[in-house]
Amino acid sequence: MTAIVDHILDLFATRGSEPYGEDVSVAEHGLQCAALAEREGAGDALVVAALLHDVGHLIEDPDDAFGVHRHDVGGAVFLGQHFPESVVAPVRMHVAAKRYRVAVDPDYAARLSAASTHTLAHQGGPMSPEEVQEFAADPHLPAALRLREWDDAGKIDGLIVSPIEAYRDRMEGLLIS
Ligand SMILES: [Fe+2]
Repeated sequence: MTAIVDHILDLFATRGSEPYGEDVSVAEHGLQCAALAEREGAGDALVVAALLHDVGHLIEDPDDAFGVHRHDVGGAVFLGQHFPESVVAPVRMHVAAKRYRVAVDPDYAARLSAASTHTLAHQGGPMSPEEVQEFAADPHLPAALRLREWDDAGKIDGLIVSPIEAYRDRMEGLLIS
């Protein structure tokens, strides 16, 4: 048992049911993303990143009905105190990964949810060619793009998934402090 994992479980329990513009709550969404990551054979760090990528919505007050605008940055700072870069980087990059995909894949924008399309404008819209080049050079790009796929898919109303307690051991096994 560790204080930080208890704290994360408590955040999911107390604030996870808050809506943020999608058909699912933040907690349901994280659990669906983790389930998708597991199903695709992702390693523990990426499963935990998928589970916690939107924790930034749970640690600050929402900016509007779509949650915390800079939840990628806030979530990464929060997680960076306790988890390795293999968990933190995909979380930090998950909004930028949307901006990247929109810029490099014309079909991708059409697949985004209404909320995701709306927040894209707040988030800076598609990346410029210079931003694409810089982002593509990041060693965590493949992990960030995999997480982005699960992020876009994990919004299914009523899907039954494992509870967050099922991920306790994996979170504890990854802790750096
Ligand atoms: Fe998400």
